[in-house]
Amino acid sequence: MKSTAVAPSNIAFIKYWGRKDPKINLPNSATVSMNMSNLLTTTTVEFSKEYKNDQITIDGENIEKESNRAIKHLDRIRKLAKISLKAKVISRNSFPKSSGLASSASGFAALTLAGTNAAGLKLNKRQLSTLARLGSGSAARSIPDGFVELKEGHDHKSSYAYSLFPAHYWKINSIAIITSTDKKTIGSLEGHESANTSPFYKKRLELLPKKVSLLKEALRAKDFIKFGEIVEAEALELHAIALTSKPPILYWNSGTITVMKTCENLRTKGILCYFTMDAGPQPVIYCLEKNTKKIVKELKKIEDIKNIIINSPCKGAFITNKHLF
Ligand code: DP6
Repeated sequence: MKSTAVAPSNIAFIKYWGRKDPKINLPNSATVSMNMSNLLTTTTVEFSKEYKNDQITIDGENIEKESNRAIKHLDRIRKLAKISLKAKVISRNSFPKSSGLASSASGFAALTLAGTNAAGLKLNKRQLSTLARLGSGSAARSIPDGFVELKEGHDHKSSYAYSLFPAHYWKINSIAIITSTDKKTIGSLEGHESANTSPFYKKRLELLPKKVSLLKEALRAKDFIKFGEIVEAEALELHAIALTSKPPILYWNSGTITVMKTCENLRTKGILCYFTMDAGPQPVIYCLEKNTKKIVKELKKIEDIKNIIINSPCKGAFITNKHLF
């Protein structure tokens, strides 16, 4: 009844922002992402009659808000497995959590896989993905391999993620740039809830299906410029929605903007790279693998940067026998 899973975080090319049904994290649109090889969560779950209560430790801490969210997810797993045993959960991130690097994506994907396995359930990837979505919308995308689409769907079962292309399909890197290690003050939840207060949100939803298909076309053609232009415009659009929501949400800091400008400058020198950001201040730069070193060298000149994590596309969540306890 003990199981350990590793799951990558993912960064979305086309973002999830706003929900049709908040109770089941049913997104307003399809989204597309890439798994990140060096932003990993490892989680061990053990159900046992020895435990009187659920015990959740994430990166050595027991924080009430995070624990409650994890316990809610354990309840979903217990219901499916028809068990009532309490669990011990230990989870470790290879990167700062709650800082806009989608630790909830890798966290809930790892918890879903380790938890269901520990409870004796054998779910397929589609079932794992829908279950992970209930914990965190973006976690659904950390289950399949490589380049992933999460279907918009119309109910719980029809909104699941699947692999568009395997990890080795395209040698592009995503460089995560940590501009702040502070915990973010406004989570994605507030963003999902206030998205439709932006006067531009309706237009965004109208244009999204076309954007998703153009992005998939660029991926299919491995057209890096087309891909990068769509991805960067999409990131700016998401933040434009956040900035024009009521109350407005500003996720960037000065480091974020410096990185965005650096990207622009590198392009004028012929080094192709494009940025994105999730709901936080950490930019992520996409580049062809061969340009990574040159870009990192430029980034290292920026004072505000705390850390740089280079990622390649990678497989989705998997089981390991290296337990954390
Ligand atoms: C901006 O609902 O998955 O990263 O509230 O932290 O669970 P949590 O996040 P989630 O929202 C993700 C929002 C996003 C865009 C994306 O990942 O698609």
